[in-house]
Amino acid sequence: MKFLLCVFAFLCAYVLSEPRIVKPGSIWRDSSGRIIQSHGGGFIQVGKEWFWFGEDKTKGSLFQNISCYSSTDLVNWKFRSNAVTLQESGDLGPSRIVERPKVLYNEHTKQYVMYMHIDSTNYAEAKVGVSISKTVVGPYSYLGSFRPLNHQSRDMTIFKDDDGVGYLLFEDRERGISIAKLTSDYLKVESELHLIQEHYECPTIVKVDGLYYLLGSKLTGWSTNDNVYSTSRSLSGPWSPFTNVAPIGTKTFDSQSTFIVTLHGSEVTSYIYIGDRWNPDNLSDSRYMWMPLYVSNGTMKINSDKQWKVDAVTGSIQQ
Ligand SMILES: *[C@@H]1O[C@H](CO)[C@@H](O)[C@H](O)[C@H]1NC(C)=O
Ligand SMILES: *[C@@H]1O[C@H](CO)[C@@H](O)[C@H](O)[C@H]1NC(C)=O
Ligand SMILES: *[C@@H]1O[C@H](CO)[C@@H](O)[C@H](O)[C@H]1NC(C)=O
Repeated sequence: MKFLLCVFAFLCAYVLSEPRIVKPGSIWRDSSGRIIQSHGGGFIQVGKEWFWFGEDKTKGSLFQNISCYSSTDLVNWKFRSNAVTLQESGDLGPSRIVERPKVLYNEHTKQYVMYMHIDSTNYAEAKVGVSISKTVVGPYSYLGSFRPLNHQSRDMTIFKDDDGVGYLLFEDRERGISIAKLTSDYLKVESELHLIQEHYECPTIVKVDGLYYLLGSKLTGWSTNDNVYSTSRSLSGPWSPFTNVAPIGTKTFDSQSTFIVTLHGSEVTSYIYIGDRWNPDNLSDSRYMWMPLYVSNGTMKINSDKQWKVDAVTGSIQQ
């Protein structure tokens, strides 16, 4: 009996820790065989499970649903819910822009808080929207939208620092990239910490060994460009000059940044660049470009878009 239990435990451990293959840019299906619709995505880990939120682009650019998928190995994803759904009117009504959903868990209120870019089709509103839920998969209740500190906000992300303080990073077409502190419940924007007076979109951020790395894309619409990053010891700066994350001219291996996954494994901590390869002729066919991101000592690099392996248990990535 003991022996059988051991064999069973070993098999479980083996099955769970088997490295999975990621093929950047290929068609990616969920556990039911449907093409994953989760563009401009954001990720959160809850226990051993990962949750992936993104834009459902089945019917094109206008808002349909914010989808939620889950996985324990980061490669096999199960559709869990439409975390935010189409409403009859208002911000989440027909003919609206709802992009780049990102979720944080708030320790004080014990609820999940989702921020997203809310806009009209001509991108004139330039606001953030906030939704909350007691469970990670939702459904999320929509609280409304606003311009953070009365500034324009298009592409954005949210970030929880080690001390639990939340931040909103947003692209203000007039001023640059703003880094703003959230209230302790994450529902409002309290104050601007820093303004980077340069124009980049799709901001995403990771903290490694006490250093913040802010990655973003140039403003070239659906077309791709060489994405760049900057580093700082403090969110309030000074930030270093922006520099390329991928080999020059590859246009970030034809992708645009949306998130950086930090994989704290049992053996190593690894970083994964999550990008979108938009297909403006058929947005639902936009591909996911996930690539190993090598972060250390002030540099951040994507070396290749070749297929690679991830072991979500040990944290190891191999390309
Ligand atoms: C969006 O979600 C609703 C409600 O779950 C669902 O009926 C609809 O099919 C979804 N739309 C798409 C495009 O998947
Ligand atoms: C758009 O892409 C989806 C997903 O790959 C595919 O199923 C669909 O047929 C495409 N539509 C057109 C018009 O090519
Ligand atoms: C980190 O960078 C500094 C400055 O470029 C260099 O002197 C140092 O050797 C580097 N350390 C490692 C571990 O690469």
